[in-house]
Amino acid sequence: MVMRQLAEGIYWVGAIDWDRRLFDALIPTPEGTSYNAYLIQGSRKTALIDTVDPSKEDELLANLKALNIRSIDYIIPNHAEQDHSGTIGRVLATYPMAKLVTNEKCRDLLQRLLLLPDEVFLSIQDGETLDLGNRTLEFLITPWVHWPETMLTYLREDKILFPCDFLGSHYAASDLFARNRHTIYEAAKRYFAEIMMPFRGSIRGHLERLSHFEIRLIAPSHGPVWDDPKFILDAYAEWTSDRMKDEVVLAYVSMHGSTQRMVDHLIDALISRGVTVRLFNLTVTDLGELAKSLVDAATVVVGTPTILFGPHPAALYATYLVSVLKPKTAYASIIGSYGWGGKTVKVITDMLSTTKMELIPPVVVQGYPKEEDFLSLNALADEIAKRHRENPLIQKGV
Ligand code: FEO
Repeated sequence: MVMRQLAEGIYWVGAIDWDRRLFDALIPTPEGTSYNAYLIQGSRKTALIDTVDPSKEDELLANLKALNIRSIDYIIPNHAEQDHSGTIGRVLATYPMAKLVTNEKCRDLLQRLLLLPDEVFLSIQDGETLDLGNRTLEFLITPWVHWPETMLTYLREDKILFPCDFLGSHYAASDLFARNRHTIYEAAKRYFAEIMMPFRGSIRGHLERLSHFEIRLIAPSHGPVWDDPKFILDAYAEWTSDRMKDEVVLAYVSMHGSTQRMVDHLIDALISRGVTVRLFNLTVTDLGELAKSLVDAATVVVGTPTILFGPHPAALYATYLVSVLKPKTAYASIIGSYGWGGKTVKVITDMLSTTKMELIPPVVVQGYPKEEDFLSLNALADEIAKRHRENPLIQKGV
């Protein structure tokens, strides 16, 4: 690995995972990812911010060796999840004098996940600092980005924020800094949707706190470093706001063509009313893209046939994702068809009850859709367009 420097005595010592295509056995990562660890040399002490995924531990240690690092005084785990903490044991074996500096909650989780002994830890409180000599680390405990123990580390003299997962992206790049902004923006938005979106409220509070810090660089533990911090901070401010776009996410699956016909009709009806549609055929879609669309969309419509007594499993899974990701989306509806009966509407409605979405009356028909069913779909499109028009939080033409 080529050594990369953020500033004099501050190095990126992580690993790029170009080929990773699935995270947590759940989240597609089409652009790969990186596990960023950073070495900070002070005049008296040396600190390592986060480590890397266990699959890349040799790379981390090789980077430290290449820098001729003989001792590490502090390892700072900002977050206990194993893609950042999983190599701590190996680093401690190589640098046995190092202490783990973190908050109590993170310490507890690390002890449970990695079976680390008590004596390797130094606990810190929110706002506490750690003196490295000519450099000072300040710790901000920021629960729920995206676990309860998460914290950020701010390097005062250099004005660098190390936020671990927060403000990151699953994006493998040879450039240290975010260069292809449009592409990385999309990756960061997708990452926000998949990981951070359920915690929109607490993240807004953390962003407000950060607004009082002077920040020159944001160095997350996934994806490129932001050398224009405002770009990603503004993006997060927008994503976590209550503002929505005049958009419908239409996620559907069809077995014999009836639901497909209804979906086709509803798309045309919405477009003719000036509403943007984001369509996801659940048999082939990348669910990360679906999640990303939910960051802004004002309405979600689930299209599904009834299979046995309820929704198609693909629609069930997509609805479950919506219910746990808790987007700001204001409205929901259901369209589809059934053969003889079932509880499709009830199952989906119950699942969405964890969100604040208002249900717009569904259009679920028996068999192939008929003329009166198309009129019902027109009425559904009318109602969606009306609500979008009348809701002041929904931005038109953006
Ligand atoms: Fe990148 Fe929550 O771990």
